[in-house]
Amino acid sequence: MADHSKSRDLRPDLDENINVAEAHAALKAAPAVGREKSLRENGMESVSLWLLLVSGVVLLVAGAVFGQGGGFLNYGELVKDGYIQGNSPVGEEEPLLPQPALSFLQKQGAKHYSTCNGCHGPGGAGQPGNNIPPLAGSEWVNGNTEKLLLIVHNGVTGPISVAGATYNSQMGAIGANLGPKEMASLLTYIRTSWGNTGDIVTPEMAANGLAISKKRGGGKTTAEELKKSHDKMLSGAKLAPDTLLDPETWEPVTKADDSQDAAEGAAN
Ligand code: HEC
Repeated sequence: MADHSKSRDLRPDLDENINVAEAHAALKAAPAVGREKSLRENGMESVSLWLLLVSGVVLLVAGAVFGQGGGFLNYGELVKDGYIQGNSPVGEEEPLLPQPALSFLQKQGAKHYSTCNGCHGPGGAGQPGNNIPPLAGSEWVNGNTEKLLLIVHNGVTGPISVAGATYNSQMGAIGANLGPKEMASLLTYIRTSWGNTGDIVTPEMAANGLAISKKRGGGKTTAEELKKSHDKMLSGAKLAPDTLLDPETWEPVTKADDSQDAAEGAAN
């Protein structure tokens, strides 16, 4: 038989006389235990009733604002009269502000000059030693635009006198794929660079020139043919260098489109 009284002395925690329910009830009064009580079975605290009420009111008000057509947020009502949203200067795209015709066409044309660069040189000096004539100071570039467009669009072959020297070689139809805008900008670029004195070739003029080329049929031109049949200016309205162009359409901007800058520009 086990001696109960003895084991009671050695291991008091197993004493059957301690009432577990009573011991816990005594602890209930302690603050820490009180807090634990408010935890739910899933371990989350229950949400305060106040928070629920306040959220409800916020949602009601927000619903009312949007419900009446976003009245508080109406752009048209908030913005001052006469305010015009500007273009964002962010990003790689060029800002679509009107630009003076000459500098705009030069900038565009310079891109296409990369196909001429290899022969006529970045400064337009040509390579006289290699039978390649200059564009700088050339009467073909500065002079009448119909023959110039035909040279670039169709190519040229045979003897040609340029700035006092005679060359005799040939050039292919390097600009055959250029549309009216590209052609206009390229011709404007070479006519107004390196000390040249030509004026602007407009897309309208270039389109007329391309039509003449089409009527003429294919094949390289010769200096002789150009002088005989094409020594004319291309027809089309002239464009003053400081006319403001819309860089998207390449058309002159009207005053209505552009209130601040047009006044200085358009002498058209
Ligand atoms: C592969 C070399 C080569 C390329 C590229 C080239 N040319 Fe020429 N170009 C010539 C040669 C050679 C002549 C002279 C042809 C002849 O003797 O009949 C010439 C003549 C000309 C002429 C008439 C003479 C003068 O010097 O004014 C013009 C204008 C001209 N080229 C413009 C251009 C333009 C614009 C481009 C680019 C779209 C271009 N060329 C690309 C070789 C080239």
